[in-house]
Amino acid sequence: MKYGYFDDTCREYVITKPDTPEPWANYLGSPEYGAIISNQAGGYSFVRSGANGRLLRYRFNSVPADQAGRYIYVRDRESGDYWSGSWQPVGKPLDLYRSECRHGLSYTVISSSYSGISTETLYLVPLGKTYEVWRLKIRNEGGRKRAVSVFGCAEFTNDGNYEQDAVNLQYTQFITRTCFHRNRILQLHNECCRRNADGSNGEERFFGLAGAPVSSWCGDREEFVGPYRSYANPIAVERGDCGNVPNYGGNSAGVLQADLDLEPGEERQLCFVLGAHPDAEADKILSEYEDPRCIETQWEELKDFWEEKLCRFSVHTPDENFNHMVNTWNAYQCFITFIWSRAASFTYCGLRNGLGFRDTVQDIQGILHLVPEMAFERIRLMFSGQTSCGAGLPLIGFHHEPGHVKLPGEPGYDYDPYRADDALWLFPTVAQYIGESGNIRFLDEVIPFADHGEADVYEHLRRAVRFSLEHGGAHGLPVGLYADWNDCLRMGEQGESVFVAFQLYQAMRILLDFARIRKDGDTVSELEEQSRKLRKTLNDVCWQGDRYLRGIRESGEKVGSRDDPEANLWLNPQSWSVISGCADEERARAALETVHQRLNTEYGAVIMDPPYREHAFDGARMRLFLPSVKENGSVFSQAQGWLILAESLMGHGNRAYEYYRECSPAEQNDRAEIRRLEPYVHGQFVEGPQSPHEGRAHVHWLTGTASTVMVACVRGILGLRPTAEGIQIQPAVPSDWKEFTIDKFYRGKRLHITVKNPNGAQGGPVRIVLNGETLPDSLVPFGQLENENELVVTMPGADPAQ
Ligand code: NOJ
Repeated sequence: MKYGYFDDTCREYVITKPDTPEPWANYLGSPEYGAIISNQAGGYSFVRSGANGRLLRYRFNSVPADQAGRYIYVRDRESGDYWSGSWQPVGKPLDLYRSECRHGLSYTVISSSYSGISTETLYLVPLGKTYEVWRLKIRNEGGRKRAVSVFGCAEFTNDGNYEQDAVNLQYTQFITRTCFHRNRILQLHNECCRRNADGSNGEERFFGLAGAPVSSWCGDREEFVGPYRSYANPIAVERGDCGNVPNYGGNSAGVLQADLDLEPGEERQLCFVLGAHPDAEADKILSEYEDPRCIETQWEELKDFWEEKLCRFSVHTPDENFNHMVNTWNAYQCFITFIWSRAASFTYCGLRNGLGFRDTVQDIQGILHLVPEMAFERIRLMFSGQTSCGAGLPLIGFHHEPGHVKLPGEPGYDYDPYRADDALWLFPTVAQYIGESGNIRFLDEVIPFADHGEADVYEHLRRAVRFSLEHGGAHGLPVGLYADWNDCLRMGEQGESVFVAFQLYQAMRILLDFARIRKDGDTVSELEEQSRKLRKTLNDVCWQGDRYLRGIRESGEKVGSRDDPEANLWLNPQSWSVISGCADEERARAALETVHQRLNTEYGAVIMDPPYREHAFDGARMRLFLPSVKENGSVFSQAQGWLILAESLMGHGNRAYEYYRECSPAEQNDRAEIRRLEPYVHGQFVEGPQSPHEGRAHVHWLTGTASTVMVACVRGILGLRPTAEGIQIQPAVPSDWKEFTIDKFYRGKRLHITVKNPNGAQGGPVRIVLNGETLPDSLVPFGQLENENELVVTMPGADPAQ
């Protein structure tokens, strides 16, 4: 079933059928002032921390779902009938009530039409501001005068700490009150022991109205909703009067009512504004919105902000769904993961007190093709989270102080022990950063270690390799430590991880390139020697004829071996054998073929098969999950990105695209009742064939899938691989793509690329004509670029992959 469509002209996803299988969300603002909003206007807001700065209350995983929210009620003062500007919470019958939700880039517009009155509510956080605006336009569409009341309603938390607010009621219910001042409700906290800068008492939040006088107000949730009622039928709306009631020691809310008389065809505009600012500031903020142009200008600024980023890379291929995702939605999701990390969503409530190392280093990759300069600071931060022994700290705290961080094992350290993979993600990220930016001098930049000392980036990378080499098991492969990429796989101090071994091999190849550039002969020899050894071990010990193992336990038992009754084939070692360059052509083909035969489903390839039921070892913590769910054999979505990339690197465009389509959210737009998650964002995983809900996706928005699939599209399918010297171009596309174009902004130059595929190839070496001149190979040297460049890339005649 279809609930909406992509509107590329304005980069919006438009929900036309409001009863979506789940609340479909969007992000507003930034973690400085963050807001999440669903197509029903459900969601919450916070200042700086979803866990500790929560402003609006949201009841996670509750019944009714997706409440509370940013509700606007409309009441007909003659008939007493009332509805909401979003379909929920009142939920009028859908044959009488029409609704549309447009999720755009950091704004959402929800429109309604009912009983001759139309509304349009724009929700946004203006750029650089720490408050949110709900701009309501209300219009009388009929031929007679209408008398209506509008109620804007926000449910405050009593305490900014999410957990305290939810459960410590003997405290949090008695610390706040609300009062009304001119055009706004103020919420005060712990009033007697706080003093604001302007001399007033108590931390203040406000919910105000501009554009019409307040005709009545309510600061108390229970008084607004009424006993044994809900947001579907609040007593104050039903009555048509908020009663001017403050809260004193109960649940605070902000409800403001405005009574309007609308002539036929007349439209009025109101702005509700919510934030955490002292009253004097609130007064100033609200007064700006008395001018209706203010919000329009801010909306334009927001659109320009995103357009400026996204216009740096766009594709026009025969597949519209691919275009929607690569040009807008996958790109936007990459920014959201980059900016918000795993902070807050409808799944995460914001409790993680920092940036996960691997997640963040991966997230960076998702925006590098667009704004490498934006990634720069974040890359430096991540290097400062590397310890002097070379490992990555699993979490970089929000108050990270390089040079002073306690390490795993030391007193005062309170997070997980080292993981085997964290620092190794730095290698592809740095290589891609240098390729996009040309900033090879970054290798010389000196950055402190988390614990003590400092070194240049090149040395940081050398230590990361050394850490993995020094933590080797009986076969010389890196040990698994607390976990590798797979959080559920605990191979321990002696058990070895084949996935990490492939990562290490990739890391050494990247470092070799850097060592050659720096003419560091000793490091070149050492890395050549070590990488040769590692490759041999991987191929001698871990190859099983049609697959690579996943690991070797301390006892010597193999994980992911052909004869294992369960989990005898794992996806990641197969894709990474190709990505790392470790498998030869024959083995790469065989491994990928095994994946296709054994792991592929309608929704992508499962992470391993069969799921654990009875034969898991102690370190296989995925057995905690149901079979075909999460790491226990689901279609783990991030891993699809690596599979697509691996097939693309082999020149198997058809196969790469088959996997892409299976896991692309946009491809499921017509079957949204199965996938359930937003059709415009990737999730963390999709339930596999052994679940009764095969195809159902989970954990929206904040997932490494976004960046990994983006990298697979840009570097894999589209085949654009920037290096220090220029861009390598080698697409791997479905053979029925006869022509497509790519526009790319590259180090200040514009590239207009037309790829021609007259003979229906799906990969292989290409011929490139740059500004009329044929290049000798697939590298477009940066030095040969003009400001504007026309590139014609012709794919080969014979199909090398068949
Ligand atoms: C989710 C975590 O955020 C990510 O870091 C991890 O790699 C995957 N789970 C796989 O376990």
